Amino acid sequence: MERIQTAIDKARKAREGHSDPAAARAPAQVGKPKSASPVAEDREAKKPLVLSSDMSFKQRDEAWAALKRFDPKQVHLERNRIVAYQTGPEAVPYDVLRTRLLHQMRANNWRRVAVTSPTAGAGKTMTCVNLAFSLARAPDQRTMLIELDLRRPSMAALLGIEGNQQFSKALSGQDAPEDHILRYGRNLAFAVNQTTARNPSELLQGVTTGKVIDELEERYLPEIMMFDTPPLFASDDTMAFLDQVDCALLIGEAEKTTIEEIDKCEQELAARTNVLGVMLNKCRYLVSHEGYGEQHGY
Ligand SMILES: Nc1ncnc2c1ncn2[C@@H]1O[C@H](COP(=O)(O)OP(=O)(O)O)[C@@H](O)[C@H]1O
Ligand SMILES: [Mg+2]
Repeated sequence: MERIQTAIDKARKAREGHSDPAAARAPAQVGKPKSASPVAEDREAKKPLVLSSDMSFKQRDEAWAALKRFDPKQVHLERNRIVAYQTGPEAVPYDVLRTRLLHQMRANNWRRVAVTSPTAGAGKTMTCVNLAFSLARAPDQRTMLIELDLRRPSMAALLGIEGNQQFSKALSGQDAPEDHILRYGRNLAFAVNQTTARNPSELLQGVTTGKVIDELEERYLPEIMMFDTPPLFASDDTMAFLDQVDCALLIGEAEKTTIEEIDKCEQELAARTNVLGVMLNKCRYLVSHEGYGEQHGY
């Protein structure tokens, strides 16, 4: 891991000395957020989430209570390596990630985070779901996890959600969003898709998607909106969507994702939004001081 970090740092330094202005734009680093896109800057100027009156508390609570409830089967979650719904040693890496993420997002008044990776299979969905459960254990915290990898949706299967949840129909304006959102407990909501969407690029880049997300934020006032987005190199879906978020978390797959891929991704993300950090997932080999779990980095 240290070798990876050193290589990433080296690549960053080399890039900072590059003469191309876009490339020279220093990537945001953990604790040193940068914003390059006007939209991100605009979103950065947003005020912290403050409920102005008992009325807005009441409306928010009513909106959450009206969402259809989802009670996952513990055995299903565990079979699928969803471990962070309860405290325990396996949840620790996700709890650490949660704490760091919350710290940075609160410090900057950011509420929307995209989770992406260079290529498929790095563990975006797995990380999003575990992180969401970890966030849900913080009682003063409302989280919405929205699945946007519409070419390879997997969240419903991972959670054991059966039925006709297809959030892409809300993004296209066809259905009301609440028809495709499920609530877990008091403070976590999942927007999932049972099947692929027909026109994912158009959906994610469409004006309606932005509106739907704004409306959700207004109605449900989640402290964190997390978006499980497609791999950055698989299509232009994620790049187009980054204007909608405040920051992004990049996931690399140990022994598979290359330093060059991480570096290129980080560069592209940094040109559009704030890069929260890089997380190395599926680490098999860790020295004892590097942590407990299979995730690392950030
Ligand atoms: N930390 C991890 N440890 C072990 N297996 C993992 C881990 N993260 C993800 N996986 C597995 O890797 C595969 C791809 O994960 P997934 O979250 O679907 O990736 P993505 O959403 O990035 O395409 C799944 O089979 C998942 O169970
Ligand atoms: Mg996925």
